[in-house]
Amino acid sequence: MKKDKVFFFDTTLRDGEQSPGASMTLPEKILVAQQLAAMGVDIIEAGFPISSDGDFESVKIIAQQVKGPIIAGLARASEKDITACWNSVKYSKRPRIHTFLATSDLHIEKKLQKTREQVFEMAVKAVKFAKKYCDDVEFSAEDASRSDVNYLCSIVEAVIDAGATTVNIPDTVGYNLPEEFGNLIATIRKNVKNINKAIISVHCHNDLGLGVANSLAAISNGARQVECTINGIGERAGNAAIEEIVMAIKTRPLYYPVTHNIKTNEIYKTSKLVSNLTGIVVQPNKAIVGANAFAHESGIHQDGMLKDKSTYEIMSPQDVGVPESLLVLGKHSGRHAFFKRLKDLGYKLESKVLEDLFLKFKLLADKKKCIFDDDIVSLVEEGASGIKETYTIDYVNVTSGVGVIPTATIRLIKKNKSKSEVLQEASCGTGPVDAAYQTINKITGLKVDLIDYSLRAVSGGEDAQGEVNIKVKYEESFYTGKGTSTDIIESSIKAYIHAINKIVVMQTGGKK
Ligand code: KIV
Ligand code: ZN
Repeated sequence: MKKDKVFFFDTTLRDGEQSPGASMTLPEKILVAQQLAAMGVDIIEAGFPISSDGDFESVKIIAQQVKGPIIAGLARASEKDITACWNSVKYSKRPRIHTFLATSDLHIEKKLQKTREQVFEMAVKAVKFAKKYCDDVEFSAEDASRSDVNYLCSIVEAVIDAGATTVNIPDTVGYNLPEEFGNLIATIRKNVKNINKAIISVHCHNDLGLGVANSLAAISNGARQVECTINGIGERAGNAAIEEIVMAIKTRPLYYPVTHNIKTNEIYKTSKLVSNLTGIVVQPNKAIVGANAFAHESGIHQDGMLKDKSTYEIMSPQDVGVPESLLVLGKHSGRHAFFKRLKDLGYKLESKVLEDLFLKFKLLADKKKCIFDDDIVSLVEEGASGIKETYTIDYVNVTSGVGVIPTATIRLIKKNKSKSEVLQEASCGTGPVDAAYQTINKITGLKVDLIDYSLRAVSGGEDAQGEVNIKVKYEESFYTGKGTSTDIIESSIKAYIHAINKIVVMQTGGKK
């Protein structure tokens, strides 16, 4: 039997970015898009251009800079949305307009306050309008899984006649069960006369934890595009996780006789990048990319693994790109060893970046005996977000203890165009981190609220680096920050400064 291809449509930058607090800056979005291209995704949904100037700009720049995948933008079924979408995706060699409209009675009556007939007409009109700009048009029937099936089939047929080349069937609220959703796809294939003229796509949310199972059931019933996100991030409980769908296909080829373009050994790196940039930490027991996904704790399991790995491992960590060796470098390692390790970890960096990283590596090796792969990944990603560093740390003195009032004295350098200012303040707080954050607020004059704070060890050992991930609120927006150091107060301050620099980029007219 000839194997069909399943197309992977990644919506990390659109639906994924709708996760609370997950918003990324423009340079961060470009990094993610480039890594998605390196991983082999077929379509990148880069954003929702009409939703903000920032989204418009980031879709446009990704369309200009990221080569390989189709670049899609989302648009409601209105001429204004579709025109904005086209004006941003048109810079890609392979643009797509993705327009959507709800088809369930609940959404039609309550949300849109329209009739089925009006929605039918709007959907056809939107696709015809999009088609004037672009050959590649996708139509999504929002809340398809709770729509009347005959009505859904009639809309699908009409939008294909109007020129839609992909028809997406979303389980918008993650309501369907796998058998039910698979049957829905089979029904659409059976009842829509012109279905062979379009690709059936699915977009499954994870409210009942079934996003991946529903997507796989859809593939078994003929869907040939799946919409998903890295680490499963997205609205509410998220979207189907791309890494889980891909690895299910790879591990169980008899059940899924399909091909795809995904380079599975890029999965781990992509997962780390998205988690670092969004500040959404991956749960340790998460399938495929969680820290424990390939860890064997029980003695019986370890014994089995030593005898034959297949006793307890259905796929190898290398298949998903988990770095093989743990202990790598130390104080005496030279340039050559460091650059080689970076190359083995899959980084292709310019020589200036390599030299900068080597200096940082040497500083770290002075503080820390063993440098693990995760330490190296953190060094690379710390410098990779491309955020303009308006504030940098020059001096920190924080005191705390029992019977001591936690106090911080901090000096920052503020760079503004060609000018550099030295600013210093001191404050007390409820603890050392609070004192430091109050001081930074005084220096910058920004009223920033800390919403979330987490600390984890980057790698093993007593001298492990502490990585701090924070979420802060400034005016009505959320920003994330990340900092790593062998000193957890320094990591906390670095994370705060990272978030503040993002805020400054936004305030001074930079795009998110
Ligand atoms: O969940 C959903 O229905 C969507 C559509 C816009 C595709 O995100
Ligand atoms: Zn969605």
